[in-house]
Amino acid sequence: MEKIIDENKQGESLVLEQKEGNKRKLFIESYGCAMNFSDSEIVASIMTDQGFNTTQKLEDADLVLVNTCSIRDKAEQTIRKRLEKYNAVKRDHNPKMKVGVLGCMAERLKTKFLEEEKIVDLVVGPDAYKDLPNLLAEVDEGRDAINVILSKEETYGDISPVRLNSNGVTAFVSITRGCDNMCTFCVVPFTRGRERSRDPQSILEEVNDLWNRGYKEITLLGQNVDSYLWYGGGLKKDFVKASEMQKATSVNFSKLLELCAKAQPKMRIRFSTSNPQDLTLDVVKTMAKYENICNHIHLPVQSGSNRILKAMNRLHTREEYFELIDNIRHIIPDCAISQDMIIGFPTETEEDFQDTVSLMEYVKYHFGYMFTYSERPGTMAGRNMEDDIPEATKKRRLAEIVELQQKHSAIRTKEHLNTIVEVLIEKTSKKSDTHWSGRTPQNTVVVFPKARYKIGDFVNVKTTDCTSATLIGDAVGYSKNN
Ligand code: SAH
Ligand code: F3S
Repeated sequence: MEKIIDENKQGESLVLEQKEGNKRKLFIESYGCAMNFSDSEIVASIMTDQGFNTTQKLEDADLVLVNTCSIRDKAEQTIRKRLEKYNAVKRDHNPKMKVGVLGCMAERLKTKFLEEEKIVDLVVGPDAYKDLPNLLAEVDEGRDAINVILSKEETYGDISPVRLNSNGVTAFVSITRGCDNMCTFCVVPFTRGRERSRDPQSILEEVNDLWNRGYKEITLLGQNVDSYLWYGGGLKKDFVKASEMQKATSVNFSKLLELCAKAQPKMRIRFSTSNPQDLTLDVVKTMAKYENICNHIHLPVQSGSNRILKAMNRLHTREEYFELIDNIRHIIPDCAISQDMIIGFPTETEEDFQDTVSLMEYVKYHFGYMFTYSERPGTMAGRNMEDDIPEATKKRRLAEIVELQQKHSAIRTKEHLNTIVEVLIEKTSKKSDTHWSGRTPQNTVVVFPKARYKIGDFVNVKTTDCTSATLIGDAVGYSKNN
């Protein structure tokens, strides 16, 4: 399962403030990456205008929407199981219930969904959410409805997302949609379409609005944030045809970061995800220049072997990656770096795997998300390469790097032991009602006694103890950012 979002939130039903007069009940849940969770907030905003309020009880729902993930086969199986659950609830408690599938599985399977899963009434791809009112009208009249058209323009820049299950402190702001990178293992370019950037003006308006409503941290979201490029709209590949004026006033990712950092100098700013081939030193320098941009880069590498990187269509070598890491560390010495890895990509030899191990030893990532390769139908690797690494070998290699990552995380966490770290308080600790939980700019979780502080405060914490991924300490006062 995707771990990019807090594991606890996977499949958690989403709730928002009830709007008076809205009679119908919507149960909405999301799986997969942060972008799906962000999209569900756009969908909830559209549905609120259609007379729906959210409910957490499946038994009460007039409509169930599930935002789905296709990134690995296991993610799809999870959704299939959920559909079985909806089926049982509909049969036993709630015969009027309608079910809609959103997101990447909707896009990948299209009408097959309606054929294979009798429970499904509505199939809506990631670029078609504005069509929901029309599609819903079809469903209300007893017909199945589907829209999986991918768009070259849609960015939902004009819809202000409602914040679902929010802690009121941290929020996602989407800046690009789709991906043009075509990594050979990845289904995203097929399910989310061509890459488009959102108007910086609407991004800044959202950031300012979030600040005015008390939010203290945003994460700028995109499949590949570093290729953000706004020149008045249009696909990135068409930038060459843009006018001189458009080129001169264009906004790339480092400019966008700077605009956000300046617009709200006390707002913490994060971003995800960076493909190493697209991360520029300009971005790293902008991070160094503005204190409110958090010193953490999620920099998935997938493999340490040059041969495998090439087969994955990742457009950098192991040596170039090391150079990038060295440059980041030179410009921002305390920058946290995290990874995604795929183990058991077709043809991966023991030697290739050892290259991944030695790359991890070099970087010593702060944390990471590691997966075994899952063949996705329709991708280049799915079509042209046999999934030839035995499951047992994949599992053994995965266990080895998960253990190695834990060791490195522990080393990285310890580096902050017996120091003062700045923490933004997000919520009550899962393990203790009397403790707060928050994160440092480097994204390390810190837990400490609540004392006089409250959610949304920036505090300085003196760290006294740690586990492999969590710092434990005592607050010693508000930080200067509070
Ligand atoms: N750029 C995206 C990456 C999306 S997928 C982002 O914003 O995060 C997240 C991670 O899932 C990838 O970095 C990769 O490590 C993993 N992944 C993607 N396709 C996969 C596959 N077919 N099998 C196993 N893992 C995969
Ligand atoms: Fe997927 Fe590669 Fe884009 S992992 S989302 S095709 S950068």
